[in-house]
Amino acid sequence: MIIAITALKGGVGKTTTAIHLAAYLQQKAPTLLIDADRNRSALIWSREEKLPFYVASQAGATSLIRKYPHIIIDTRARPEAEEFRDLADGSDLLIVPTTPNHLDLDATFKAVEQLSSLKVNYKILLTKVDARTKGGQQARQLLEAENLPLFKTEIPLLVAFERASHKGVIIRDYSDPRSALAWGRYKAVGQEILP
Ligand SMILES: Nc1ncnc2c1ncn2[C@@H]1O[C@H](COP(=O)(O)OP(=O)(O)OP(=O)(O)O)[C@@H](O)[C@H]1O
Ligand SMILES: [Mg+2]
Repeated sequence: MIIAITALKGGVGKTTTAIHLAAYLQQKAPTLLIDADRNRSALIWSREEKLPFYVASQAGATSLIRKYPHIIIDTRARPEAEEFRDLADGSDLLIVPTTPNHLDLDATFKAVEQLSSLKVNYKILLTKVDARTKGGQQARQLLEAENLPLFKTEIPLLVAFERASHKGVIIRDYSDPRSALAWGRYKAVGQEILP
């Protein structure tokens, strides 16, 4: 399965989602994460060699693609319309992470407009949901009112995600009281894709 993670906004959890879904899929079959972002965030995350799957740059992935049943592509923020089209053509599923923040939601509605015209299989993932506010719930209602495809699972706002990235590990392998909960959420997203 080929899954691309894309969004018009930066900082919405694309790389975090790519890393954790790759970890989930790796439990099913060998999975390659292609870092197609010039910032190389996923490659930097993998530098300590503590991730349970392989991360390649776009250029470095060419010879590897055929060897991996599952491929996750992490992309840069603010893609050109053409990049959207290429990703749509080359992927089985596009995941569009968004936080409940209204600017991010606004960008998500814009992305959806572009994706709808491409007739691509896409699904929105709510990320960085702060359990102390109603933001997540309100965002879900807005998206559902438009009948947009949305993961049932949400990713909570937890500082442990950032700390795990600094340590070069996935959240499951980061020692924190909330790690199990956080990993459980990405696992649940994975199960919605490939049970
Ligand atoms: N669920 C979360 N809770 C708290 N912090 C998070 C969460 N997900 C991601 N972050 C943090 O938010 C920042 C942005 O996340 P990430 O790098 O995954 O987003 P991105 O969309 O890939 O960003 P960019 O557009 O810069 O590539 C990072 O510091 C990351 O550690
Ligand atoms: Mg990123």
